[in-house]
Amino acid sequence: MLSKKLEKELNKQLNKELFSAYIYTSMSAYFVSENMLGFAHWMHTQAQEEMSHAQKFYNFINERGARVTLEQIDKPQTEWQSSLQAFEDALKHEEFITASINNLVNIALEEKDHATHIFLQWFVTEQVEEEASVNDIINKLKLMKDAPGALFMLDRELGQRQIDSEEA
Ligand code: FEO
Repeated sequence: MLSKKLEKELNKQLNKELFSAYIYTSMSAYFVSENMLGFAHWMHTQAQEEMSHAQKFYNFINERGARVTLEQIDKPQTEWQSSLQAFEDALKHEEFITASINNLVNIALEEKDHATHIFLQWFVTEQVEEEASVNDIINKLKLMKDAPGALFMLDRELGQRQIDSEEA
């Protein structure tokens, strides 16, 4: 059985993962409006992975005999000045999620809840990968400085992204 505190905090994280899906769907829509369909695909795939993260929290809360309680999801930003700005916002958001996961790990350790601690390890690793992949795209965007040919190539590359097998 989960403690009331962990039940509340895991439900908050479930909300954050749903909000993440909402943000990335909004970024995907922004890229569609800019005719950058590879970037849009990358963001759409990211949103699907966030839904999978939300589902993992949903399942875990239920499996531990606690109650899933859905709350309102915040309205996401809808416009960005550039692809670089959108990805910089994505990185800030992932850093926020990483801090949130780390906080959950701390609570699980304080409460000596080993099952929750083990469950969260997947997310600790996932956050390292998520920050790294967004950082990689930011670095490429900075290098190319809006050169149309390079942006076109990156758009094609991002259009190849497939959903991670652990998240499908
Ligand atoms: Fe579910 Fe992007 O963290």
